[in-house]
Amino acid sequence: VRAVVLCFPNNPTGAVMTLAEARALAAALEAELDAEEARGGGFVVLLDEVYLGIEGSAHVSLLQVASPRLARQACLVLSASKGLGAMPGARAAWVTAGDPALIGEMVKVQSAASGNASTISQAGLEAALTHCLREPQALSDVSEYYLQRATLMATRLNQLGLAHGLGALCTIPRSTFYVWADFSRLDSVQTDLEIFERLLDLGVAVVPGSAFSMEPEARLLRFSCAQDDLDDLERAVSVIDRALCQLRAAQ
Ligand SMILES: Cc1ncc(COP(=O)(O)O)c(C=O)c1O
Repeated sequence: VRAVVLCFPNNPTGAVMTLAEARALAAALEAELDAEEARGGGFVVLLDEVYLGIEGSAHVSLLQVASPRLARQACLVLSASKGLGAMPGARAAWVTAGDPALIGEMVKVQSAASGNASTISQAGLEAALTHCLREPQALSDVSEYYLQRATLMATRLNQLGLAHGLGALCTIPRSTFYVWADFSRLDSVQTDLEIFERLLDLGVAVVPGSAFSMEPEARLLRFSCAQDDLDDLERAVSVIDRALCQLRAAQ
C-alpha cells in the first residue's frame, strides 16, 4: 500500500496547517487520487496528529475539509502520550480508518510484528479519555501546561540568542511542547552535533536536527520542555547560556 504521510502539528518543527492550506492540500490529493485511480492504483493518507490537543481548539486536520471519498482513504493516528492522554511512555496509540478493510490489514501486520499496548496503558488511556469527555476543561489544562513550558523555553532561547549576537533562535510554539531552534549563526561550530555534545556534557539533553534527517550544518536543535518543574527549565537555560559562552570563546 502506498501512503502520503501528513504530520500536523509537526515533529520536529511544530508547524501547523491553516484551514486554507488544508483545503489546498485536499484538492491536490483529490487530483492525485484521480490520476492514480485512472492508472489502476491508489494511496492511503496517513494523518499523524498525535499532538492534537496541545494547540487547543485551533487544531486543523485534513479531515475537516476532506470529501467523503478522500476521508475514506484516510487513517488517523492518535496517541496516549501527547495532548490527549499526556502519558509519555504509555506506548498506547490507535488508528481510525475511513475504510474498515484497512484496519483488518493493519491488525494482520500488528499482531505478527508487535504485542498489544499493555493493560495498564490501556486502562490509563481509557481513564484519560473518559475524563476529557466528562470535563473538556482538562484538555485546555493540558494545552496550557505544555505551552507554558514551551513558551518559557522559546522566550529564554531568544533572549540568549540576542545576548550572544545570534539573533532570535526560534518562533514561539503554538502546538507542541518542544522548541525548534536555529543556531546557524553560531559560526564557531560546524554541525548540530557539536552543540548537542557540549550541552550533553553540561547536563542538558536535546535532539540534534540531523536525527530528523536535517543537514548537520544547518545547526538545528529540538528542545523538549515537558519537565514538570519550571525551575528545571530555568536551570537548563543557564546551562545553555554557559554552553554558548564556551562555544563562542572557542571561535
Ligand atoms: C509525530 C509523532 N508521531 C508519533 C509519535 C509516537 O508517539 P508514541 O510512541 O509516544 O505513542 C511521536 C513521538 O514522539 C511523534 O512525535
